[in-house]
Amino acid sequence: MDGKIRAAVVGIGNCANSLISGIQWYKEFYTRAKPGERVPGLMHETIGDYKVSDIEFVAAFDVDERKVGQDLSEAIFTEANMAYKYDVTMGKSGVTVQMGPVLDGVPDHLATFDIPVKVSKSKPSDVAKVLKDSGAELLLNFLPTGSAKAARFYADAAIKEAKIGYFNGMPELIVCDREYQKAAQANKVPIVGDDAKSQLGGTAINRAFVQLLVDKGINIQKMYQLNYAGNTDFWNLCHRGASKHKTKQEAVTSMVPYKFPMDTGFSHVRLMNDRKTMYLWFDGGNFGNAPLHFEAKLEVEDSPNFAGVVVDVIRYIKIALDRGLGGVLDSVCMYYAKHPPKQIPDPEARVRLDEFVAGKRER
Ligand SMILES: NC(=O)c1ccc[n+]([C@@H]2O[C@H](COP(=O)([O-])OP(=O)(O)OC[C@H]3O[C@@H](n4cnc5c(N)ncnc54)[C@H](O)[C@@H]3O)[C@@H](O)[C@H]2O)c1
Repeated sequence: MDGKIRAAVVGIGNCANSLISGIQWYKEFYTRAKPGERVPGLMHETIGDYKVSDIEFVAAFDVDERKVGQDLSEAIFTEANMAYKYDVTMGKSGVTVQMGPVLDGVPDHLATFDIPVKVSKSKPSDVAKVLKDSGAELLLNFLPTGSAKAARFYADAAIKEAKIGYFNGMPELIVCDREYQKAAQANKVPIVGDDAKSQLGGTAINRAFVQLLVDKGINIQKMYQLNYAGNTDFWNLCHRGASKHKTKQEAVTSMVPYKFPMDTGFSHVRLMNDRKTMYLWFDGGNFGNAPLHFEAKLEVEDSPNFAGVVVDVIRYIKIALDRGLGGVLDSVCMYYAKHPPKQIPDPEARVRLDEFVAGKRER
């Protein structure tokens, strides 16, 4: 044991960019930080004994010809990636991005994006073998929304074949699937998902607001959440976002003990690049159902917002691996996933999470 965490990643898009270059930002921060200096921007500086800077990447997969065959630290900066740029110096990682099977990862509409995905002509690698040979302890799934077949292919390779931990960062229901839950339990591999609540995103704000409405007895009459940005993820969400509408809506409606009309919308505003705007709109009633209206707007760099959550999830999976624990990590899913197998309010999930880390709760 060298205290490092070895991760593999599929989908070298904006999320992978922010995660990998963001970890480099923390590595550089630690080398120049004064003793006791506050570390900015993290939900947890350490989890167990692990810091963000202990995360390393040992394997990577994509299908875009600008990424496949490149060193990972160069591939993350190629088109159509447009994530916020950290002021860091990335050395070569020594990890070459491997070709994966395309399956349903590149739909026609991504070919008409103004920076279209160009599928590499390379032969797909043996994904399970690459995972095993690389020494990866877990696989991060950052495939485009709607890639149901590709998501299952990589989940099979990680959970059933290579038998490593797995985080599903996209809204395909994998961790909620009984078959994968059983395989993960049998193979002693921890799994977390589905889809991630960003560090401070629409879902987190909407859930906190709805909890307040429920606690205060406010009658929820109508609510919608509109999200827009200019990246490929939003272009894709506008064309095949059904699974994201589901994970976003259920993350909110599951907290309210009665049914109410809730809608989610996505739009694509190209010049905003990776900067996302979330607009929350609400109509309700207080005492005697007297009318009440609320609106809120958040602007945030989308992919760093996701990476801030993934650096925690990776470390919880590693703790589970250290403990020889397989199957769904319930408390981690409840706190970090938009669509966990079981939803509970965030403050309760946070207590369970702390109990899990302290070894007072199995999962
Ligand atoms: N940005 C956020 O805050 C956020 C939050 C929660 C969840 N997510 C989810 O994360 C996922 C990734 O988002 P992103 O912004 O990085 O997307 P992106 O479009 O920037 O990147 C996706 C990458 O996957 C690659 N790909 C497509 N098919 C593939 C295949 N078969 N095998 C290997 N690679 C393939 C593409 O070439 C591209 O590089 C999305 O599903 C999104 O819903 C994002």
